[in-house]
Amino acid sequence: MVLSANDIHCSYGSSDASIKVLKGASISIKTGEVVAVMGPSGSGKSTLLHALGLLERPCKGKVLICGEDGWGLSSRRRAELRNRKIGFVFQFHHLLEEFTLKENVMMPCLIAGETSEEATQKAESLLERVGIIHRSSHFPSTVSGGERQRAAIARAIIMKPEIVLADEPTGNLDSKTSLEVEKLIMELAEEGNRSFLLATHSHDLAGAVHRKVFLNSGIIKKS
Ligand SMILES: Nc1ncnc2c1ncn2[C@@H]1O[C@H](COP(=O)(O)OP(=O)(O)O)[C@@H](O)[C@H]1O
Ligand SMILES: [Mg+2]
Repeated sequence: MVLSANDIHCSYGSSDASIKVLKGASISIKTGEVVAVMGPSGSGKSTLLHALGLLERPCKGKVLICGEDGWGLSSRRRAELRNRKIGFVFQFHHLLEEFTLKENVMMPCLIAGETSEEATQKAESLLERVGIIHRSSHFPSTVSGGERQRAAIARAIIMKPEIVLADEPTGNLDSKTSLEVEKLIMELAEEGNRSFLLATHSHDLAGAVHRKVFLNSGIIKKS
């Protein structure tokens, strides 16, 4: 399994006034598998992705990334694991506004200590692949929502992660653009034999995926 999470509990707030969002969610994802986690707004999809992506520590539960216990590692080792194995497409604040699309896509490579030549070369080839090479030197605020999302996806896969966690990747797009981005995600999964976990409340996006699961009352139900 690329990702395997067991009995994840997450709550917000202090102990006397806490809301339990996840109450024992479990999920496993195989290499190359594209899975949609569905659920209405507020059901905890973003919370789940942040726990699985080693961004926010759950109150309880294990997350294995390629067999490694992500939350059991030191924060430095966890950051390395995240950088090498996990790509993330965020629900909000997709890109850094003060950087061009190319610079945004290069960022994970630079953080990992690659030279700017290497990073540039990889970013350009990915921008080409996702169809926005002509927008490389534009800033996020000056391109369309679909183009921003393509850049966010390119940034998420530039380190060749084993799994990409994408939080409502088509949430703010019109239906035609959503379909195009969805098609791109399915192609990138196949080309790289890479797993994706997509959070979505849209049945349309979930149409093409290999498997759907539902987040309901804090736990995951299979379709
Ligand atoms: N940082 C936070 N502090 C307090 N409550 C939060 C926070 N983030 C999310 N929540 C609450 O947790 C629940 C699940 O949120 P979220 O994971 O964002 O759901 P979804 O992504 O499915 O819309 C919601 O009730 C939301 O209001
Ligand atoms: Mg959300």
